[in-house]
Amino acid sequence: MGLRSRVLGSGGYLPAQIVTNDDLAQRLDTNDAWIRQRTGIRQRHIAAHDEVTSTLGLRAAQGALAYAGLSPESVDLLVCATSTPDETFPATATRIQAALGMTQGAAMDVQAVCSGFLYALSVADNALRLGQAKRALVVGAETFSRILDWEDRATCVLFGDGAGALLLEATPTNGSAAERGVLSTHLYSDGRFHDALYVDGGPGSTKTTGHLRMQGREVFKYAVIKMAEAIDIALEKNNLTPGDIDWMVPHQANLRIIEAMAKRLNLPMEQVIVTVDRHANTSAASIPLALHEGASDGRIKAGELVLLEAMGGGFTWGSALLRW
Ligand code: ACO
Repeated sequence: MGLRSRVLGSGGYLPAQIVTNDDLAQRLDTNDAWIRQRTGIRQRHIAAHDEVTSTLGLRAAQGALAYAGLSPESVDLLVCATSTPDETFPATATRIQAALGMTQGAAMDVQAVCSGFLYALSVADNALRLGQAKRALVVGAETFSRILDWEDRATCVLFGDGAGALLLEATPTNGSAAERGVLSTHLYSDGRFHDALYVDGGPGSTKTTGHLRMQGREVFKYAVIKMAEAIDIALEKNNLTPGDIDWMVPHQANLRIIEAMAKRLNLPMEQVIVTVDRHANTSAASIPLALHEGASDGRIKAGELVLLEAMGGGFTWGSALLRW
């Protein structure tokens, strides 16, 4: 008998302010048709002045606890994926921990940009399977609006703010892929792709405030190739086939990338949770937000097989399979 991380609940939070493509077209040389055709994005949520990443993460974490009917005292690990931390240190996770009223266990940040949630999930899953923790909150929270160059139409139209969270618990398993919980996580990175997607400064040793810079075409090309490889490995390691997948919950960067991945798996779009049209790209928050949407509206049901995949700056990429 080993241990497996089982999902107890999910939560999500989006800031109240919605900015549509038409709103952006009033201050930038862009238009709704271009943004929709290239990305599928219609609108994005933007954090209020008094909201920081931990504010958003807290709301998502509280949502996941409420969903499961559990209190913060029962959690002994909090992993927050973010590339837009409140401060250089301490970790945004510790701010969420304090605001939750959780005074035990450990809290840490994980930084893998848009793959951040998969990385955080993997860290928490390993700790739970090894018995290092019993119950873990995995949060993805971002305020990308703060690192965008709002004069650069090629990047600022693509992102939004938000947070999502999963609550996981270590439960005994016989190791079968038919049992509920996280079946596997596969993580990859290749730092040679730094220049394709990065922030040109910011907190840390550069002493400058940075903005996101991206070679969109390069990212698009590698996203499709690398995520496909990560999905193939996930299925192979679990002796599963694309036909076993009930839901694909991809990182939400671009509808064209999502459709390409679904087509490759021969998965109808009805089995894909899509939020990019309303949320845009919320980086590490996009997968848990989409999971929460699919679970809370009744689409994703207990026992169903869910495939997660993501790719982000670094490059980082990966996949996870979980039985909800
Ligand atoms: N509105 C109008 N025109 C625009 C805009 C805009 N917002 N942005 C760029 N353009 C123009 C460009 O200036 C260019 O004009 P030109 O031909 O006169 O020079 C033209 O549109 C084409 O620009 P490209 O950058 O070549 O457009 P492309 O078809 O590659 O689409 C996009 C750009 C949407 C960014 C695409 O490359 C993409 O989606 N890449 C993936 C990037 C991504 O998703 N990143 C998210 C982070 S990483 C991740 O999460 C996977």
